[in-house]
Amino acid sequence: MASMPLKARLANKVAIVTGGAQGIGECIARSFVKHGAKVVIADIRGDLGKSVCEDIGVGSVCFIHCDVAVESDVENVVTTTIAKYGQLDIMVNNAGTTDAPKLSILDNDKSDFERVIGVNLTGVFLGTKHAARVMIPKCNGSIITIASVASITGGGTTHAYTSSKHAVVGLAKNAAAELGKYQIRVNCISPYVIPTEIACQFFNIQDTSNIYSNLKGKTLGPEDIASAALFLASDESGYISGHNLVVDGGYSVLNPTFGLFSWPEK
Ligand SMILES: NC(=O)c1ccc[n+]([C@@H]2O[C@H](COP(=O)([O-])OP(=O)(O)OC[C@H]3O[C@@H](n4cnc5c(N)ncnc54)[C@H](O)[C@@H]3O)[C@@H](O)[C@H]2O)c1
Repeated sequence: MASMPLKARLANKVAIVTGGAQGIGECIARSFVKHGAKVVIADIRGDLGKSVCEDIGVGSVCFIHCDVAVESDVENVVTTTIAKYGQLDIMVNNAGTTDAPKLSILDNDKSDFERVIGVNLTGVFLGTKHAARVMIPKCNGSIITIASVASITGGGTTHAYTSSKHAVVGLAKNAAAELGKYQIRVNCISPYVIPTEIACQFFNIQDTSNIYSNLKGKTLGPEDIASAALFLASDESGYISGHNLVVDGGYSVLNPTFGLFSWPEK
């Protein structure tokens, strides 16, 4: 049988990817364009964002400066996307930050806590709100938030980061409950550790080769998150909403206290 050409999974769709200038967001933007979408990268890093756009090809992707913690910036990105492309089908709330690891809560400053919450939670709220503003009249859309395994576990990162990632899953569930009547789906993706700037700085590592993996011999990369995002963005996931898709190779389901499967074989 003659092979059929693969249908582009995001043909005729328009996406915004916040934090798309590097790391996981850049990989998502590249994947979405490859699968037929027009993409707007919204980031505070204009230098990186513009060079990613030039590399991908400016016919399919553009950069708009946006601090996700500032409502007028987020509003502008969504409004400009509609003016340029006429629609918004996919919103990826990916931009994220963290604070320095401090091992006692007594050393944690309120200002650091609020800065992280401002980007990781308020930024996601604003992205979800303004995406919904233009998706509701069309009765169509997929909103995806990049959370973290810190959304379902404790003890891996800072209080601010863990709080923010737990909170965005709650926000996604609530938004999914509200927006279902407009056929807008809202989901999260929760990655394990990937050696991007944020993770390498936080854990003071160069790569993740020495990070524990439940999937022996495998390491997680940004392309694994881009694959999950592609699925949730496409019509293939048309009945999936309110879900937190954990991409951690099984890390978060293990309780090492008993470790039955780690016992040495006799
Ligand atoms: N790398 C990991 O191990 C890991 C694991 C779980 C979840 N995540 C999450 O994945 C997302 C992407 O992180 P990454 O690993 O690609 O990190 P990264 O540091 O490589 O990229 C983060 C991007 O977000 C942008 N950004 C930061 N603050 C912003 C703001 N206020 N407004 C707009 N853009 C802003 C940065 O400029 C950068 O382009 C984050 O939400 C992060 O919390 C990362």
